[in-house]
This record gives sequence, C-alpha cells and structure tokens, in this order.
Amino acid sequence: MNQSDVILTGIKPTGSPHIGNYAGAIRPALNLARRSPESSAMYFLADFHALTLVKDPALFRDRCHELAATWIACGLDPDRQVFYRQSDVPEVFELSWVLSCSTSKGLMNRAHAYKAHVDQNTRSGDRDPDAGVNMGVYSYPILMAADILLFQAKYVPVGKDQEQHIEIARDIAARFNRCYGEVFTLPLYMASPSSAEIPGTDGRKMSKAYNNTIPLFGSRETLRRAIFGIKTDSSAPGAPKDPDASLVFQIFRQFADRQRTETMRDRLQQGLISWKEAKEELYVLIDGLLDRPRAMYDELMSDRSHIDRVLEAGAGRARELARPTMEKVRQAVGR
Ligand code: ADP
Ligand code: TRP
Repeated sequence: MNQSDVILTGIKPTGSPHIGNYAGAIRPALNLARRSPESSAMYFLADFHALTLVKDPALFRDRCHELAATWIACGLDPDRQVFYRQSDVPEVFELSWVLSCSTSKGLMNRAHAYKAHVDQNTRSGDRDPDAGVNMGVYSYPILMAADILLFQAKYVPVGKDQEQHIEIARDIAARFNRCYGEVFTLPLYMASPSSAEIPGTDGRKMSKAYNNTIPLFGSRETLRRAIFGIKTDSSAPGAPKDPDASLVFQIFRQFADRQRTETMRDRLQQGLISWKEAKEELYVLIDGLLDRPRAMYDELMSDRSHIDRVLEAGAGRARELARPTMEKVRQAVGR
C-alpha cells in the first residue's frame, strides 16, 4: 500500500449494528487502517442509502447516531481518520448523477440486491416483477460507486455480500475513464480473512433483515438472550458435537484467539461441554470484548450534539478532499 492510497468504507444506518457488521466490516476496516498508517482512511455513514428502506425521520436520526457512536466506540479515531455522514457531502450526489448518465441500465438489472427483489416477486406469483422496488434500490450501486470514486479510494473493505457492488464501481470508473480520460482510480474489493460471513442465530447470514442478529450494543440481558437463542441440534450434554456444523462455534471462533478456539473445538468434539455451557462461554467472551466499547457507546449516545459536531467536522475535511476530483469530472464532461 502506498502513501497516497485511500481506504474507504461505509455502512447504512438501517438498524442497530450487530456482531456480523462488526466482524465483517467494522473490525477489518479499522484493522486495515491500523496496519497501513501510511495510507489515509475514510469511514462514513451511508445515510442516504438507507432512505430506500427507513421512512421514519425520528428513527432515521436515531439510527445515524447509533451507527456513528458504534464506529467510535469500536476504535475509530475521528482526529486521525476522516469520519463523515454521506448526506453532508453534496458532491456525492452530483457525481452520482454524472455517473448514472454513462452507466447502462443493463448493469443495474444484474445487481444482486435488485435481482433478489425481482426473484422474490416472481416466486410469490406477483405479476409485476418490480413491485416494491423504488428507484433508490435500483440505482443504489451507482450512488455507492460515487461514494467510492469521489475520493479516489483504492481499497474498500466490506463483507463478501458487497463484492459485486465494488466490481460495479470498478466497471463504472473504467467506462468513464475510457470515455473522458483518466479521472478515477479503479477500486479494489478487500477480502480479509477475518471478514467471513457470520451466521445469525437461525443459521442464515446474520442480517438486520432476518431478525436473527446478536446486537453489538444494548443491555447485557439482550446480548445474553440473543446468544441463548442460537439454534443448536439436539445432542445430549455429554454427547460429542461437530464444531464445524455448530453455529455457536462458528460465531465463537470469530472472536476468540486461536488457543481458545482450539480448546472449544476439542471440548465439543469430545462431548465435554453442553450447548448451554458453550453458549455461556460465548456470552462471557463477547460481553468481555464489549465491556469498554459499551461504556464509550453509552457516553457518546448521551450527548448527540457532540456526535453531530464530530460528523460535521469530518464532512468539512471530506468536501475538501472531494473538490479536486469534482473539478476534474466537471472539466472532463465539458462543464
Ligand atoms: P445487514 O445485512 O444486517 O443489513 P448491512 O447490509 O448493513 O447489514 O452490512 C453492513 C456491512 O456489514 C457490510 O460491509 C456487510 O458486508 C457486513 N455484514 C453484514 N452482515 C454480515 C455478516 N453476517 N457477516 C459478515 N459481514 C456482514
Ligand atoms: N452498500 C454498503 C452496504 O450495504 C454500504 C455502502 C454504501 C458502502 N456506500 C459504500 C460500502 C461505499 C463501502 C463503500 O453495506
């Protein structure tokens, strides 16, 4: 990684952040910046992306504050890294329009999130395959490309489910460059070994959309209840258990060090531990890791105007960084 390389990632404030968001997006993104102090790192709240889904203004505001507090509580330092809210940077939306004018509709038809809607409508026998799809959902990958290309980001650490979006951003950048000359850096998806997909309590991917999450913050009781709700098979307490088929173990290994993981693996295989005890250990592990961040999160959430000030300062820096690219873009298209 070079001095001029930009690392950038964002998360939508669509629900309370969960341990899948932490292990799949927040932790690898912060680690990447830590490991590469020579590069510059940018993190943002992809708030206007969330408007495709969140229609309640008060809830929207809460979700933004929760997500900002989560990033900071998990280790983001707004003095060293650029941390901002997407909607405070109007250049993103200007660039999004320019990019949409040279992006083919076919590329959007192939985007996973849109295709998933169409498939679901088709399966449910709906005559309109586009039922329930707003234009925000449809052109989402273009706005995401603008988020990335505006800052000439090279590395975009995100979970596996976002890989296609990064490829689309790359395609959009390459097409623009072919047409108008070299304006954009081509972004790369960062596959980090620690960004495996975390299963939810029901075995599907952990996602706000499935109601199967283990929340990052909130009370200890909520954490405990979520962990004790993880699906297990009906093995008796003293029976040998297959760790690789166990959700409890899959989650445990994302947070424990190697030695603790191997010990847990052996105990499950040898039938030395019941599911109840394994869940208790998982709870103790995660609760211990969250202890300090939780205190910081609660403190941040008790003064939301402070969060707003931090985000506004970050947006000022982000807009300065955006300016040279927007000048190039305007000049390239003949403005
Ligand atoms: P959700 O599916 O809960 O709505 P988002 O789509 O907002 O989550 O994802 C935010 C970030 O967290 C993305 O980078 C995504 O790849 C990552 N992420 C979400 N769920 C998981 C998971 N279960 N395992 C790993 N990473 C995840
Ligand atoms: N689409 C991403 C998600 O659902 C969020 C996002 C929006 C993003 N713009 C981005 C991630 C730019 C990385 C870079 O999680």
